[in-house]
Amino acid sequence: MDRDWPSGAVVLLTGASSGLGRELLGQLLHWGAEVYILLHPRHAGGNGRKWVEGDIAGEIFCDLSDPASVEEAATKINKSMPRLNTLILCAGAAAYGKIIDIPWATADHVMKVNYLANVILIGKLLPVLQAQPVGRIVCIGSGSALMGLTKGAAYTASKAAFHNFFESLQGECQKSSVRLLHVMPGYMETPIHDKQPIFGDAGSVPPTGKGVDVGSVAKAIIKLGRRREGNVLLGRNPCLAYHLRYWCPRALRALARWYGY
Ligand SMILES: NC(=O)c1ccc[n+]([C@@H]2O[C@H](COP(=O)([O-])OP(=O)(O)OC[C@H]3O[C@@H](n4cnc5c(N)ncnc54)[C@H](OP(=O)(O)O)[C@@H]3O)[C@@H](O)[C@H]2O)c1
Repeated sequence: MDRDWPSGAVVLLTGASSGLGRELLGQLLHWGAEVYILLHPRHAGGNGRKWVEGDIAGEIFCDLSDPASVEEAATKINKSMPRLNTLILCAGAAAYGKIIDIPWATADHVMKVNYLANVILIGKLLPVLQAQPVGRIVCIGSGSALMGLTKGAAYTASKAAFHNFFESLQGECQKSSVRLLHVMPGYMETPIHDKQPIFGDAGSVPPTGKGVDVGSVAKAIIKLGRRREGNVLLGRNPCLAYHLRYWCPRALRALARWYGY
């Protein structure tokens, strides 16, 4: 149990401009955390703060699909935020379409945002986090990392790659002051579904039932940060899929087909 979370946290949050990240930002500011946000350069020039209710500590602009830009941002963060004790990786990009239709440049973009950018940020910022009495890394993955989704390979493979990276990271951080939490939510109603490009004759993304309310997911993540470490599946569907995958994979495929995946 960590009583200084989230009020005593000095946070760098990615993906704060939209969806789950925006909800997390609101929650963190509500609980009195000191929050720096990392935004795509398209938000530079005054747009950044308009949608923030509360005072953020600062903004960093960086295109997470550009490894050089991520490395440069990490160097700046290391210099300007020596008290940083929490890294929350919430940014994400998606694409939808059959494997034969997804352009490699799109698969590359999704992998860079969802996997490589997080790897660079963690690698570069881990020393400053480890120098704090308690450091924390909270990563937003996806339940789909554990099963794949038909026509969602570019996205789910990037989340699976990060899931595997996280397994190794846990081993490397075992004896340090850094707590690690990898949250894998199910379907949420956020703008990511409208933003993602759709390729070939994939049609629209099939409905997966009513999505989980993103505000309640943000609340749950704040709560989890106080008590839990390791991998956490959030929501009924990812938990069901996780167990079916091991105990009855044919039932999982049948269910996925029924939903249109
Ligand atoms: N929604 C779901 O059903 C679902 C389910 C499981 C997991 N997740 C995960 O939850 C996390 C939050 O996603 P969301 O659903 O809230 O989606 P969202 O509303 O689209 O938010 C994604 C965030 O990532 C930022 N981002 C994307 N590409 C970027 C880049 N190149 N450089 C900098 N920032 C970039 C976006 O910035 P802009 O506003 O500038 O685009 C936005 O702030 C993601 O990791 C996603 O994979 C989502």
